[in-house]
Amino acid sequence: MPTFLFILLLSLSRWTSGWCEDPSSRPLRKFPEGFMFGVSSASYQVEGAWDADDKSPSMWDVSIHKDPCWIANCSTGDVAADSYHLYERDAAMLAELGVDFYRFSISWPRVLPQGPGRVGARSAAGFAYYRRLIAQLKRRGIQPLVTLYHWDLPQYLQDLGGWTNPLIVDWFADYARVVFEELGDDVKYWITINEPWTFCWFGYGRDFFAPRVNSSDVGVYLCAKNVILAHATVYHLYNSEFKEKQGGVVGISNAFTWYEPVTDSKNDSQAVNDILEFEGGLFTNPIYAKCGDFPKIVKERVAKKSAEQGYSKSRLPELTSEEIEFARGAYDFLGVNHYFTILTYRNESADYSTSFFYGGVKAPSYPDDMDVGLALSPEWPTSSVSSFATYHPSGFYKLLTYLRQKYDNPPIIVTENGWPTGPGLEDDDRIKYLRGYLQALQQALEEGSDIRGYTVWSLMDTFEWISRYSTRFGLYEVDFESARRERTPRKSAFVYREVVRARAVDPGYEPPADATMESC
Ligand SMILES: *[C@@H]1O[C@H](CO)[C@@H](O)[C@H](O)[C@H]1NC(C)=O
Ligand SMILES: *[C@@H]1O[C@H](CO)[C@@H](O)[C@H](O)[C@H]1NC(C)=O
Ligand SMILES: *[C@@H]1O[C@H](CO)[C@@H](O)[C@H](O)[C@H]1NC(C)=O
Ligand SMILES: *[C@@H]1O[C@H](CO)[C@@H](O)[C@H](O)[C@H]1NC(C)=O
Repeated sequence: MPTFLFILLLSLSRWTSGWCEDPSSRPLRKFPEGFMFGVSSASYQVEGAWDADDKSPSMWDVSIHKDPCWIANCSTGDVAADSYHLYERDAAMLAELGVDFYRFSISWPRVLPQGPGRVGARSAAGFAYYRRLIAQLKRRGIQPLVTLYHWDLPQYLQDLGGWTNPLIVDWFADYARVVFEELGDDVKYWITINEPWTFCWFGYGRDFFAPRVNSSDVGVYLCAKNVILAHATVYHLYNSEFKEKQGGVVGISNAFTWYEPVTDSKNDSQAVNDILEFEGGLFTNPIYAKCGDFPKIVKERVAKKSAEQGYSKSRLPELTSEEIEFARGAYDFLGVNHYFTILTYRNESADYSTSFFYGGVKAPSYPDDMDVGLALSPEWPTSSVSSFATYHPSGFYKLLTYLRQKYDNPPIIVTENGWPTGPGLEDDDRIKYLRGYLQALQQALEEGSDIRGYTVWSLMDTFEWISRYSTRFGLYEVDFESARRERTPRKSAFVYREVVRARAVDPGYEPPADATMESC
């Protein structure tokens, strides 16, 4: 899950006057035949059981045990929502919602507790857990959509440099092959890596996320190259060794914030272009663009600044022509994680150093390379727990349109979209958000975007990284105070259930006050 929501803790909510973009006057329109609805979670955020059976620590276990109070609220993911034990309840909730699929991730150190490369030391208990979960889904006709890597790297690999060590390409391929062998007969949708921008920047470029390397000049770039090659290697490996027998599809899930210019000046629209290339483009172009490779503007800017700054070569490692060919087109679909829209600008006084994603670092650095200022529109409503989670559905529409045009209309699965709140069951603002964003998606679909599915972040409240448990995204509330981690449907759960049932967004639907969840 996103992350950025941390600053929310630091800033007061700016809940501005109402939601003014209500498109409820439009007639109901159906999603196309075969369109899939789902919900999402991730291993470290829900499983708990951090040292159960023979699991070894992930880099999140280690970072958070060393300094539980970094950024906010001194809590850990040791128990989280305890899905390691409560997976039957989770599966029952999925059946209550009636969703077509469940997106969850595999904990690498749970299934391969020793390494690197010890593919023979697979954990029977770890794989048994995922088999039990998948069996629960199958019994209810729910497809698993499985993420191989959602940020919980084995600490034994972080000790060797993690995503900055080029050998991670082999380690990731070894791990993926083991997972395909063990679970691949029952899984048709694979996501290799979740939101590399987020962990490459906040984990290797900064100290917000494990492993907190804080190398703001090179961390994100070294990580980016290794992510691209690791993804492409696993894509080709699946195609040559498993696809014929298992018949699944493989993509990557990238983080795409949308940006709009503060003014219509040339500088501000250039700033939008640049930030889109430095964030999403860095991780998307090499795989999805017709000519592959890192975005031109990123290569040129980083090379020029690096030379001026006295580096022996560009801080962004090159992709060789063989690597460009290898990564280009290595996808069956694009996973899109999108939450909100932010304003951006560039002028002499554009000061990224105070901006929420990029503040607190000096040149040479990734933010200095990008050179844009960020701002919030006073016109867009914001979440009560995050000053920069904005409600601006047309930004989602514009993003989907941009991806269609830029990458030749790839098949898209929206793998995350959601709205943060505090605790509580009455979440009308989340309902408003989900409806608005689903309608924006429908508009892009009707204009030709090849969007195959949509996933709410999240099924239930989770460990939200540096926001810990103060930021809630769940359709189901989790009582983190209770030993049994009881889950209770929010109002939004009933509304999403109706969307899935009707295969349409009915803005007038109001769940009965005494609504309950039932399933077989
Ligand atoms: C455009 O941005 C550049 C670089 O920050 C700056 O030098 C220039 O003054 C800006 N132009 C305007 C019209 O703001
Ligand atoms: C730079 O742009 C921001 C956002 O539009 C604006 O607030 C600021 O006054 C501008 N500064 C200059 C020197 O133009
Ligand atoms: C990370 O770097 C920033 C400056 O770039 C510094 O302010 C911060 O203290 C560093 N964090 C750690 C944990 O060293
Ligand atoms: C986390 O800290 C914030 C700010 O102090 C507080 O409002 C919130 O209730 C805390 N959440 C938890 C789960 O402790």
